This record gives sequence, C-alpha cells and structure tokens, in this order.
Amino acid sequence: MTQHIAVVTGGSRGLGKNAALKLAAKGIGIILTYNNNADDAQQVVREIEQKGVKATALQLNVGDSASFPAFTRAVQEQLKTVWQRETFDYLLNNAGIGINASFADTTEAQFDQLVNIHFKGPFFLTQSLLPLMKNGGRILNVSSGLARFCQPGYAAYAAMKGAMEVLTRYQAKELGARGISVNIIAPGAIETDFGGGMVRDNEQINQHIAAQTALGRVGLPDDIGDAIAALLSDELHWMNAQRIEVSGGMFL
Ligand SMILES: NC(=O)c1ccc[n+]([C@@H]2O[C@H](COP(=O)([O-])OP(=O)(O)OC[C@H]3O[C@@H](n4cnc5c(N)ncnc54)[C@H](OP(=O)(O)O)[C@@H]3O)[C@@H](O)[C@H]2O)c1
Repeated sequence: MTQHIAVVTGGSRGLGKNAALKLAAKGIGIILTYNNNADDAQQVVREIEQKGVKATALQLNVGDSASFPAFTRAVQEQLKTVWQRETFDYLLNNAGIGINASFADTTEAQFDQLVNIHFKGPFFLTQSLLPLMKNGGRILNVSSGLARFCQPGYAAYAAMKGAMEVLTRYQAKELGARGISVNIIAPGAIETDFGGGMVRDNEQINQHIAAQTALGRVGLPDDIGDAIAALLSDELHWMNAQRIEVSGGMFL
C-alpha cells in the first residue's frame, strides 16, 4: 500500500509536533516545517524515524509569502527523493504565534505580523502547494476557541482565525471538484509555548480556564494531536467544510 504523506507546518514544537507524532504513529510519512528551531525539528524527525516512518524537516516562515515558490519546490524535491512520489495527501496549516494586545493598543506592525502568519500565509501557502496535493487529499486548517468566545487581548489574532474559518468553507466549495476536503479544528487553550507559555506556566490563568471548561482542566498537546490524527482518518472522509472545536467544552 502506498504510504500517505502529510505536510505539517510548525511541526517543531507544540500542537504541530504532537500531531506529526500522532500521524506518524498511524504510518503517515511527515514533511514538517520549522521557522527558527531546526534542532527541535530534527529531533521530531528522529522520533518519527524511530517508529519506522519516513520524515523530513524544511525551514518555512509562513509570514513570508515570497518564499512559497521555493518552499514548494523543496517539498517537491523531498517527495521525489524520500518517497519517490509526486504528490502528498494531507496539509495541516498549523504554524502560528500569539500576540496579546487589546483592540485599543494593537499596533499596525502587530496586526500585519498576525495577518501575514495567520491568514495571508495559509491562504497563499495552500494555493502554492495545491499542484502537489493528491486529488482526494485533505486540508486541515487551525482556528481557535477564541474565534467563538472572547478573551481580552485577542481581537486581531481571533479575527484572523475567524477569517480562516470562512476561507475553509470557500476552499471546501472550490476544491471539492478535485475531491479535496477542507476542515478547520479550533483548539481551546492548550499547554504549549504559545503566547509565551501563558496557559501552561501562569497558574492563575490555568485555573481560570480550567474552571470555565466543562471537563475541568486546560487542554494538553496530546488532546489536540489525537484529534488531528482522528480528523484526518479515513473514517471521517465525508466530513467537509466543518469547524470542529476541541476544547473540553470551554465557555459553554
Ligand atoms: N496553544 C493554544 O492554546 C492554542 C489554542 C488555539 C489555537 N492554537 C493554534 O495552534 C497553532 C499551534 O500553536 P502551538 O500552541 O503549538 O504554538 P507553539 O508551541 O508556540 O509552536 C508554534 C510552532 O509554529 C512555528 N512557527 C511560529 N512562527 C512561525 C512562522 N512565522 N512561520 C512558520 N512557522 C512558525 C514554530 O516554529 P519554531 O519552533 O521554529 O519557532 C512552532 O513549530 C497556532 O496556529 C495557534 O494559533 C493554539
């Protein structure tokens, strides 16, 4: 059987790393990307290879759309040399950063950085990678619970995630002709390095969120990695154009 291959952006740490490991545990080959942390990315590649699955890591700044043609050629090269393939099967648009600033205080520079990384980046990266996607493949975008409920300091960030939710439906509509389905996962607050590791390291914030979560704790990377692997499984092939919140029931 041909091995499926996933491109996972931001696979060096946090949710992308966890998802890459969970997908690899199902035998899916992984092309992961990192922005700065090449060593962390290589460590993830080694962990995947130890499972007997092929993996490779490429540098990518999703905020720099001018680099996408070269990145796409690099993906093509890896597909050919590592897998002897022309196409990949799954795209997980996960890479991202958090900036906490109130609506009143958000600077234009912060807005531009967020829009480049969280909206323009995934928009044009997906467009650039489309010729390498197998017909019948799957795209999973990443939103946030913050696009449904409001917490102070996330006006710009959450608005970009909201834009990704709308884009997901348009992509699903237009890419359906190629049998490609497009969905978006919206994690609740998860203990990662995101936003300076606030949810993990600030006990007050951690407890505040846990108290507002039906299942009584904040999320862990495993909660989301497992969900991503499940959402990209064959059993969910008919799910399309959906926002799936995975938050343990935050702010119900
Ligand atoms: N954690 C949460 O509470 C939470 C909740 C909802 C949604 N999300 C979303 O989930 C996604 C992953 O977040 P996370 O918690 O896993 O964050 P994280 O632990 O900080 O990891 C971020 C990942 O994205 C990469 N990255 C950062 N900036 C990049 C850029 N400009 N270009 C390319 N890659 C870049 C990082 O690469 P390097 O290692 O090289 O820096 C790293 O692999 C984001 O889209 C975030 O908005 C997170």
